[in-house]
Amino acid sequence: MCGIVGYIGNKEAIDVVLNGLRALEYRGYDSSGVAYIESNGSGRVVKQAGRVEHLLPGLDQEKSKIHIAIGHTRWATHGLPNTLNAHPHTNSDGSIMVVHNGIIENYLEIKRELAKNGYKLITQTDTEVIPHLIDYYLKRLGSFEEAITAALNDLKGAYAVAVLATAEPEKIYAAKLSSPLVIGVGRHNEYILASDPNAIMEHTKKVVFLEDYDLAVISKDKLSIKDLRKNTLKSAKAELLDYDRDKSSKGDFPNFMLKEIFEAPQAIKSATLGRVQADKGIVKLGGLETVTTQLKLIDRIVIVACGTSYYAGLVGEYLIEELAGIPVEVQLASEFKYRSEPFSRSSVLLAISQSGETADTIAALKKVKDYGCLRLGIVNAAGSTITRLTDAGVYCHAGPEQAVASTKAFISQVTVLTLLALYLSDGTKGYRNLLKELDLLPDKVQAVLDQAEKIKTIALKYKDSKDFMYIGRGYVYPCALEGALKLKETSYIHAEGYAAGEMKHGPLALIDEDFPTLAIATDSPLLEKTYSNIEEIRARSGRVVALATEGNKKIGKLVNDVIYLPKTLEITQPILSVVAMQLFAYYIAESKELNIDKPRNLAKSVTVE
Ligand code: M6R
Repeated sequence: MCGIVGYIGNKEAIDVVLNGLRALEYRGYDSSGVAYIESNGSGRVVKQAGRVEHLLPGLDQEKSKIHIAIGHTRWATHGLPNTLNAHPHTNSDGSIMVVHNGIIENYLEIKRELAKNGYKLITQTDTEVIPHLIDYYLKRLGSFEEAITAALNDLKGAYAVAVLATAEPEKIYAAKLSSPLVIGVGRHNEYILASDPNAIMEHTKKVVFLEDYDLAVISKDKLSIKDLRKNTLKSAKAELLDYDRDKSSKGDFPNFMLKEIFEAPQAIKSATLGRVQADKGIVKLGGLETVTTQLKLIDRIVIVACGTSYYAGLVGEYLIEELAGIPVEVQLASEFKYRSEPFSRSSVLLAISQSGETADTIAALKKVKDYGCLRLGIVNAAGSTITRLTDAGVYCHAGPEQAVASTKAFISQVTVLTLLALYLSDGTKGYRNLLKELDLLPDKVQAVLDQAEKIKTIALKYKDSKDFMYIGRGYVYPCALEGALKLKETSYIHAEGYAAGEMKHGPLALIDEDFPTLAIATDSPLLEKTYSNIEEIRARSGRVVALATEGNKKIGKLVNDVIYLPKTLEITQPILSVVAMQLFAYYIAESKELNIDKPRNLAKSVTVE
């Protein structure tokens, strides 16, 4: 999704900004642009529909003289992904240049007011109102800082903005509300601003996370932060980010998705490292130690998340209810925010997110801020907004996930949810079997990965399908939903996930020889029932690929193709099944020669509601 980078210092600002934008490319975008102050003090904007690389020819010969610049990658929300709508946006004379992430909800209202005052806006974007509004206030208030303060106070919705102005050629102004923005403090009189720490790490790990309603005024040797609500200065608290850049390269893999699928065994090991002592039946979650007493008093957990994290949450519901006996509800974060529902102080809101920056999930956490309930997180990205909004939480430690299609994050989320369920249970000692199985799981996942070629051969038989059904029961029902999501987002094939038992209540009407099904028929007490559901599909000429447990003699006769998975407990089955389905979706997408890491229309970090 949209990305912001800014730089002020002694280095070549345009290069720093372009490199930062490249580091954000994984998030997905459709147009890009930069703005900078030239050595003669005038402002310049270079932007276009397309990739960051395409900006290069338009950039100045005098690049070496530029030491202040901002840049943007846009993921269109308002208006087509064309050059006109690309950021930076400016006021009419180009003296105020703005890049913006988020959505200005009252932009039409502001646009109308600006029009009444003679302003002519030319793009379809919401962002364009910002430079014009600053211009409007600048003409009335005189000071740039007062003008930007007044303009920001008029905006409703979510924003992270960086602003350059020829009137203040040695400053970058930056502000945020419900959209992340972080400032890297460089070693030699320099600051790097970005919407995602990935764009900063090359320069420094010392960062200041801006908070909502902060306005930062950044010059080469000074960073000051004002609280827009109180109109007072506050201190800039710098922290050190724990980040390993090496983990974010593709290595020998053709793309990030395949690399990240193959990182599943490591994801399980990292999620359990130092947290489990299988022989003693101990689960320790250091991130929850500060809230142990409160956790003893809870009577309900509401999980909020989106997409793949939501499906991990659904697996979590089965896990926590079975192992800890605590009622769990899982809600789509985008729905939760707008529901009126009873929510007591003894309920916990548990947000699950890979990026920790998903706007819907953040909105859900903010909604319950004053309810007096505990807010927990299961997050992969260290230092992200969700980790800072929650009272306590557990990191996934899966390492950076770059492909838009989430893979290893799901594996680590489900692993952490298993640990959490055990942690919340009365006694983990009774679960030694499960803890031992968690120890064995990385090898079992590796055995699934070792079958990649076989899974590919089966996947290719189905690559021309226009539709796909995924079914499962119990713990693997949410996995069917996740399997379908993986297929649709990577290969653009219409896919639906259903509880196998629901097929007869409607979806069976869809089934014919052109509508295949992937049935998760791994060992469980419900297996016989899943067989019946498969028979019903076969009776309607539907082709079926099954995921089954090694040693299953019956399934081969029932279905067209079988992918065998190692024996495991029913509880740990989701991890093995999902890895197989990730590979299945991957190979179909690969055969279609699609942009696997960046599927069309999607973004990695969904920072708008
Ligand atoms: O970063 P998050 O886990 O909060 O992201 C949630 C979803 O946007 C994400 O899982 C999305 O559905 C993925 N593209 C799925 O592969």
